[in-house]
Amino acid sequence: MSAVMNQTSTQPASPALLSVDGLSKSFGGIHAVRDISFRLHDQEILGLIGPNGAGKTTCFNLITGFYTPSSGKVAFKGRDITGAKPYSVAQAGIVRSFQKTNILRRLSVFENVLAGHYLASRQSLFDTFFPRAHVARAEKEARDSAAEIIEMIGLQSRLNAPATLLSCGELRLLEVAVALAAKPTILMLDEPAAGLNSSEAMAFGETLKKVRRTKVQAILLVEHNMSLVMGVSDRLVVMNFGEKLAEGKPAEIQGNAKVVEAYLGKARN
Ligand SMILES: Nc1ncnc2c1ncn2[C@@H]1O[C@H](COP(=O)(O)OP(=O)(O)OP(=O)(O)O)[C@@H](O)[C@H]1O
Ligand SMILES: [Mg+2]
Repeated sequence: MSAVMNQTSTQPASPALLSVDGLSKSFGGIHAVRDISFRLHDQEILGLIGPNGAGKTTCFNLITGFYTPSSGKVAFKGRDITGAKPYSVAQAGIVRSFQKTNILRRLSVFENVLAGHYLASRQSLFDTFFPRAHVARAEKEARDSAAEIIEMIGLQSRLNAPATLLSCGELRLLEVAVALAAKPTILMLDEPAAGLNSSEAMAFGETLKKVRRTKVQAILLVEHNMSLVMGVSDRLVVMNFGEKLAEGKPAEIQGNAKVVEAYLGKARN
């Protein structure tokens, strides 16, 4: 037995932050996701890419409990969370953004991020906005945390602006800030740079790297903007027609003939 194998057998690796094993979901006759497996490790940004309808959002819905898998398993830090309800998955530390925005347009930037803290704390949304004595301390912590997240994400100059007045780029940053308010271990973003021009997308990518360094342990990123996703991801999983087509580092994926044929040749950016 080689030294490497010996080392593997005597020192089992700690479980991945997120393990997806043989995940499948059918809707009637449509196999939206078929036998998808991948790992997300500590400190990693993992890109999940593929053409429209490939099954990326369905994967998000399966991991975060919005859909129940037809088969397969999802584990968070080695603990089986398959079929857990969305609220429990978020409380456990896996927080997602949505392909369609979940920003409350009439609320300010600060109020939106503050509302996001509701998920992470035991207080009710009512308590957040109408604090009673016993929640005053939690309220102050939430306010301090909201201000800190907004500064980190670079929206402090827009703190009191109603969300309806934000530019597209600012809205995308606010969506990330709201997700961070729930104090995730894993941040899952579904097309977070949709609608951004290329320089805004590059700046957004730098912000994501900062988020990974300072706020979360790992990011799972669905994104069609190829410059962005290739620039920020440590590894990529490529889906096509519900199945995993390839997995590897950005340079490997860009050089993979199957991926180029199925996807990269006709990617949006
Ligand atoms: N609730 C549902 N009921 C029936 N079919 C669904 C449902 N959700 C997704 N699908 C189907 O599953 C397939 C995968 O869809 P999904 O939204 O996961 O793709 P996607 O990779 O996120 O695409 P896009 O890049 O366009 O967002 C599609 O054929 C879609 O029509
Ligand atoms: Mg989608």
